[in-house]
Amino acid sequence: MRHPFIVANWKSNKTTSEIERWFELVVSAMPTPHAEVILCPSFPLLPMSQMLIEKYHLTWKLGAQDVSSFTEGKHTGEVNAKQLKNFVDYVLIGHSERRRELKETDEMLFEKVKRVQEVGLTPIFFVQDKDTPIPDTIKIVAYEPIFAIGTGNPDTPEHAESIAKYLKKSKNIQTVLYGGSVDHKNVSLFLSEGLIDGVVPGTASLDPKEFVQLTNNA
Ligand code: PGA
Repeated sequence: MRHPFIVANWKSNKTTSEIERWFELVVSAMPTPHAEVILCPSFPLLPMSQMLIEKYHLTWKLGAQDVSSFTEGKHTGEVNAKQLKNFVDYVLIGHSERRRELKETDEMLFEKVKRVQEVGLTPIFFVQDKDTPIPDTIKIVAYEPIFAIGTGNPDTPEHAESIAKYLKKSKNIQTVLYGGSVDHKNVSLFLSEGLIDGVVPGTASLDPKEFVQLTNNA
């Protein structure tokens, strides 16, 4: 059986000095995780996260939380897919916080997916419900209902499983993740049926102890 994915979405949290301690605590408490950990820090933390993953000989992968919809060039402040390729394997695209706060449209998100795939990275595409438009080339989808994000009020495992089933059958998605108030207590409920292939903890990924427990229970 394949190990579940744990996509740690740190969002706009942590500084370089804080992550050294986070790694130290997590690694000392979690020698060999039987999970595919994909750590998603903010852009400035990617180089140091890469160094720390090497330092501790972890099999983890890195993901970016965003990418430019443009290729390199005259786009001040944008981080393009080619620049990310030295650091990450995955890129999160379409998180509801960005759709809402940054006014990201389906059109922009579809462009981002293209940029990411052009350079050989894997997009993890976020949907808020079963009707969110998904580009045809997407293989990994994270289902995150808005009411569940950061609220302590997750979707029910049964409903999340029904969405996973639908996405796999009707939209040809290979891998479906669930996110929204996942923690060490509920993580196994989402993974037990095998329809959901992994989870996306936000809040629960920030605290080393909680993250270790969550990963162990997955
Ligand atoms: P949460 O965030 O675990 O804090 O609900 C998950 C996410 O938004 O990816």
